[in-house]
Amino acid sequence: MSAVVSLSNVHKQFGALKVLDGVSFDVGRGEVAAIIGQSGSGKSTVLRCINALETIQQGTIDVCGHALHDAGLNRRALHLDVGIVFQSYNLFPHLTVEQNIMLAPVSVKSVPKKEARELAREVLARVGMEAKAENYPEQLSGGQQQRVAIARSLAMSPKLMLFDEVTSALDPQLTGEVLRVMEDLARGGMTMILVTHEMAFARKVASKIIYMHQGKVWETGSGEMLDQPKTPELRNFVGGVSSDQASASV
Ligand SMILES: Nc1ncnc2c1ncn2[C@@H]1O[C@H](COP(=O)(O)OP(=O)(O)OP(=O)(O)O)[C@@H](O)[C@H]1O
Ligand SMILES: [Mg+2]
Repeated sequence: MSAVVSLSNVHKQFGALKVLDGVSFDVGRGEVAAIIGQSGSGKSTVLRCINALETIQQGTIDVCGHALHDAGLNRRALHLDVGIVFQSYNLFPHLTVEQNIMLAPVSVKSVPKKEARELAREVLARVGMEAKAENYPEQLSGGQQQRVAIARSLAMSPKLMLFDEVTSALDPQLTGEVLRVMEDLARGGMTMILVTHEMAFARKVASKIIYMHQGKVWETGSGEMLDQPKTPELRNFVGGVSSDQASASV
């Protein structure tokens, strides 16, 4: 399996605060990696580094053939290859669902409007939202808005998708809808890295689980690692979240 993402000994500080302390991991083509860990352990920072939204002080990051640590990085080309979806959907409120999705293909890739509209319908169908193409974001539930945000990313045909706690703001039923969309994407072969508190989902969909603690990859492995943690930190973490994530099964 060729690596789509490869981090080697990545160090990141915000001023005096060490946030990533020698992080290394690979994610292969078609692989789904889930990053788990306590608040403040550096999960979002890792995703932001993978999308070159943060600079690093030491180490190397290779993403879809782009060397992010290289001064000559073509950020535009990188951002065409990588889609990122956040907890907040950030849809434009004054544009319809369809217009939200057409925006980037038309403005960034110069896709003709008619073609972009067809593309929008296609990606909306993939997330089960084709019926809402003409609606405005405020007319949708949180889960529906998040599915539109995922569709918007898909419209750019990324090679890699990053998801940062995309269901954290949603109630359990809406969470299930969004997780199902992500599971379909994974089944379709999309390479994905997701930060999640949904342990049941991580176990089911991720081929690799990365447990971060204090800016380090503390443990990594398959879903079984959650049943047999090697370190007391992971044992505590799994014990702590499993009780309040009991409703999170998909
Ligand atoms: N722009 C920034 N400037 C200064 N410190 C930052 C910045 N971004 C993040 N940090 C700090 O880096 C550490 C890691 O933050 P990060 O957002 O990566 O954590 P996280 O694991 O995603 O946490 P959570 O589960 O709460 O989202 C935290 O201590 C945070 O306060
Ligand atoms: Mg975070």
